[in-house]
Amino acid sequence: MNTVLWVVLPYICLTSFVVGHFWRYRYDKFGWTTRSSQIYENRLLAWAGPLFHFGILGVLVGHALGLLVPESWTSAAGISEDAYHAVSVSGGTLAGLMTVTGLVLLVYRRRMTPSIFRATTVMDKAMYLLLGAVVAVGTYNTLVINLLGAGHDYRADVAVWFRSIFVFQPDAALMAGAPIAFQLHALLALGLFALWPFTRLVHVFSAPVGYLVRPYIVYRSRDPLGAARAPRRGWERVGS
Ligand code: HEM
Repeated sequence: MNTVLWVVLPYICLTSFVVGHFWRYRYDKFGWTTRSSQIYENRLLAWAGPLFHFGILGVLVGHALGLLVPESWTSAAGISEDAYHAVSVSGGTLAGLMTVTGLVLLVYRRRMTPSIFRATTVMDKAMYLLLGAVVAVGTYNTLVINLLGAGHDYRADVAVWFRSIFVFQPDAALMAGAPIAFQLHALLALGLFALWPFTRLVHVFSAPVGYLVRPYIVYRSRDPLGAARAPRRGWERVGS
């Protein structure tokens, strides 16, 4: 059973993640979108969108540090376990709460705005359910177990298991001994990875990063020949 959960399942889900993205790009290039609903409602979105997205970016950075950086590296750099715990639990709590609040507002907005609710697909609902569950259990782990409770050193089991998957030396025993809430969080996350390519979450890989530096107004010079030139067929390249 442990081999199925912590070896077979991770590889199935990660294969679905990788192959699914290629498949989606190949067969549904024009459906590769956030399916933005900004046009229907902007007041709540203006708060909920940034709250969720900045929160989840913080969560991502936290996961990269917590799961990918071995404990031996931070202690070799002179960072004590107490100092690591203090930084990770405070950063994790802030990022987790921002993500949960943003997500609750996004789902509330989607349910309460009739035009957005009508545009919500079955796949959207499945995705929100799974994403909500992953985020809720993750935040429970940080808040209830690591901030308020006795704490669990996930860098000694969950993180080592996570890395073992990517070096093709999966170690199921590490996860088998982890607390149930950490196991559940990882299983839900694997489910989310499997579903990811078939949902609007594909937009993560085409985030409009250029928006951060684009000019507000684009000036273009006039065509020097103006109306004197006969129009050409099809698209014309926009010059300067
Ligand atoms: C297999 C993949 C994953 C593993 C092994 C994992 C592991 C963990 C661990 C160990 C914690 C507790 C951190 C702490 O207490 O400081 C955590 C927290 C959390 N996780 Fe994950 N996670 C995974 C994927 C995800 C994904 C895909 C999401 C969301 C899309 C997510 C969202 C969260 C959130 C919101 C928290 C609480 C805030 C935080 O500590 O950053 N996790 N996760």
